Amino acid sequence: THDERVFSGIQPTGVPHLGNYLGALESWVALQGTFSSVMYSIVDLHSITQTQDPQILRENILDMVASLLACGINPTRSILFQQSQVSQHAELSWILGCLTSMPRLRHLPQWKMKSKQKNEGSVGLYTYPVLQAADILLYKSTHVPVGEDQIQHLELAQDLARIFNNQYGEFFPEPCALLSSTRKVKSLRDPSTKMSKSDPQRLATVFLTDTPDDIVLKIRRAVTDFNSNVTYEPESRPGVSNLVSVHVAVSGQSVEEVVRLADGLDTGQYKNVVAEAVVQKLEPIRQEIQRLRADRGYLESLLAEGAEKARCLAAPVMMEVRKRVGF
Ligand code: ADP
Ligand code: NA
Repeated sequence: THDERVFSGIQPTGVPHLGNYLGALESWVALQGTFSSVMYSIVDLHSITQTQDPQILRENILDMVASLLACGINPTRSILFQQSQVSQHAELSWILGCLTSMPRLRHLPQWKMKSKQKNEGSVGLYTYPVLQAADILLYKSTHVPVGEDQIQHLELAQDLARIFNNQYGEFFPEPCALLSSTRKVKSLRDPSTKMSKSDPQRLATVFLTDTPDDIVLKIRRAVTDFNSNVTYEPESRPGVSNLVSVHVAVSGQSVEEVVRLADGLDTGQYKNVVAEAVVQKLEPIRQEIQRLRADRGYLESLLAEGAEKARCLAAPVMMEVRKRVGF
């Protein structure tokens, strides 16, 4: 038994970018110190809702494990595992799917965005949020770190906990959101959009494996505006304000401190300061990813151990669910 448990998942999309780090992973690391039970899953079942090359998927999973470890996820303080290695996720997802109405899923953001992009969508993409609910409820999780974009999906998990409890008796706690307080990191080439791995513009996204030279180049090419001073005005000056936000996030200083520090610098000079601060933060992580990534066997054995721990928690929950459902 436990009082509180944190659960979150991340798709194995390869090496995370600066937005993923500042918006999600950094707080994942911190949560290891505030909660006694913390689980992080590399959600490969979710990733196959988009077509994946098997070879690349396998490498992306290991890239993600190495990246999470390098960022500070500590396998002795949290359970780090690969979703598909714990079969109960799919099993619970089926049962929860039978408690979910079709219209309940139609308006959720993931489906609306991704099915329209391709003008079609698989059943898996449609029921993706049900699998997410299963991920969370399988461990009777109570706290789920999420980005704003995932709030509606968490609400489905809350609904499904309630629906299951009504139908089969009180069992699942209703999980609550731990919202990230960090501002979204914007694309360096188009600050009206968020930084994303799928940004087609070269130089728009800083990845955790970028070398110091890559980082300096990308930040030097960041879009600003025709004013040369440094101010923080996200609405009217999104480009330079994004650099200030990034600087704030990597240095731990306040907006006021950072802007005062930049007094007298033009945006060109300020970019060097920001680049330096980002390099300081990311360079140890990059080196650690490289070091870990060289040892496949270690990463795979770590995943095997994580899956074993996760299965030990999932098995009794599923056993009870099966009994209640009438199996
Ligand atoms: P992407 O947009 O690159 O596909 P994901 O949607 O896979 O990223 O997001 C993984 C996690 O990283 C989520 O918690 C999401 O909220 C966070 N995240 C993604 N992009 C950013 C960003 N630009 N700024 C802050 N957080 C972000
Ligand atoms: Na996501």
